[in-house]
Amino acid sequence: MFEKKSYDESREKNYQLLLKQLEALIEDEQDQIANLSNSSALLNQFLDQVNWVGFYLMKDDELILGPFQGLPACVHIQIGKGVCGTAVSERSTQRIANVHQFPGHIACDAASQSEIVVPIIKNDQVIGVLDIDSPTLDRFDEIDQKYLEKFVDILQKYL
Ligand code: SME
Repeated sequence: MFEKKSYDESREKNYQLLLKQLEALIEDEQDQIANLSNSSALLNQFLDQVNWVGFYLMKDDELILGPFQGLPACVHIQIGKGVCGTAVSERSTQRIANVHQFPGHIACDAASQSEIVVPIIKNDQVIGVLDIDSPTLDRFDEIDQKYLEKFVDILQKYL
């Protein structure tokens, strides 16, 4: 069973422990929904100051809501729209200090102030995104980005 660890080392050490926990949690499972569900739960208990953590998956040329933790969210996002759709069209992480200044931001939870979206790339194709919202302005820094990108890189092997 999963045991909640205390993350009381440096931030980088904590993130390294998180990556090990991720691998242990999903390495023996091939079901995509199961692995995405456990990944969102793992991130939700690891990260502080977040109000939404989850996935959108590519289907028929748009993003569709996948497993997540947080309030109910919008189901369809067009490519190029909002922070999530921009991460797909640009094929790059979007780290947004203030979502209210992002043109076309899609507000699913009014509490959200900052956001990071990491595209999930498998076999050179964007298959979805990891989306994390925070009620704190400028919640995510370069360390978060570096390790969340590593997180997604491990995860894509098991999707
Ligand atoms: N804010 C996102 C939409 C998804 S919700 O945050 C869960 C966006 O602009 O793409």
